[in-house]
Amino acid sequence: MTIVRSVSAMKALSRGWRREGRRIGFVPTMGYLHEGHLSLVRESKVRADVTVVSIFVNPTQFGPNEDFKKYPRDLEKDSAFLSEAGVDCLFYPDAAEIYPPNYRTYVEVEGLQDRLCGRSRPGHFRGVATIVLKLFDIVGPDQAFFGAKDAQQVLIIGRMAADLDLDVEVVTCPIVREPDGLAMSSRNAYLTTDQRTAARVLSTSLRWADKAVGAGERDAGRLLSGIRSILEAEPLARIDYVEAVDPETLDPVAEIRGQVLVALAVFIGPTRLIDNIRLDV
Ligand code: PAJ
Repeated sequence: MTIVRSVSAMKALSRGWRREGRRIGFVPTMGYLHEGHLSLVRESKVRADVTVVSIFVNPTQFGPNEDFKKYPRDLEKDSAFLSEAGVDCLFYPDAAEIYPPNYRTYVEVEGLQDRLCGRSRPGHFRGVATIVLKLFDIVGPDQAFFGAKDAQQVLIIGRMAADLDLDVEVVTCPIVREPDGLAMSSRNAYLTTDQRTAARVLSTSLRWADKAVGAGERDAGRLLSGIRSILEAEPLARIDYVEAVDPETLDPVAEIRGQVLVALAVFIGPTRLIDNIRLDV
């Protein structure tokens, strides 16, 4: 596996691959990799000729009081993991090259960026869209792979790619979970043993919602109250939001019909976790 640090070297490498007619698959990450990330790598390896993974803890997507500084990092373990997975290239840029001191340009995906997580994390999706556009330009992928765990993120990236006529196909891959249902996340590493047990409540509440809809519940208000009561019964959990929305517009829905995204963010102690389920009625 080639490890590339500079923007110019990454561009030259991918230019070479394109000239050889090789299809480039790309998996952007912030590192501290787990099976969720690996599932994206696997999908890329199936669909593309070469797979590039980036690891970059992107400062512009963290709020001033968020965990940028303490976000978990382990480059040695990550690169062993990626090399084992058969990744061709790890792009691990330096923040000073990505955001030089006179950096001024940001991408905004209006409307979508202010819903759900965007409401509690102002500026977050502006940072995400900006870094992903920069990475797309540097890596020049044919396809880029994102997890459905961050449903709003992949929606925003897909919108950006369509709006800006980018030559990249944005592929959404299913949520990978721990055996007890907790969605895998680098931030799960923050959880103490008690918090880790409590964190099950996110997926438990969504599974309940899925069953309730299966049993005929169509009222979004009642469904959301049911989810909230399950979450509120867990003393270590504090709800940030629970919403049922149209998966394309993120507008709240009153009725569970057609495609509905039920998304939630919950603090377990100081750690904010997200999860969601896509219902198809
Ligand atoms: P990160 O949280 O490292 O996630 C990288 C990719 O892995 C994202 O597409 C995310 O949705 C996916 N992922 C994380 N956990 C997953 C799980 N349990 N199942 C399936 N996929 C999962 O998301 C980011 O980094 C950043 O915002 C980034 C897009 C890299 C921009 O900085």
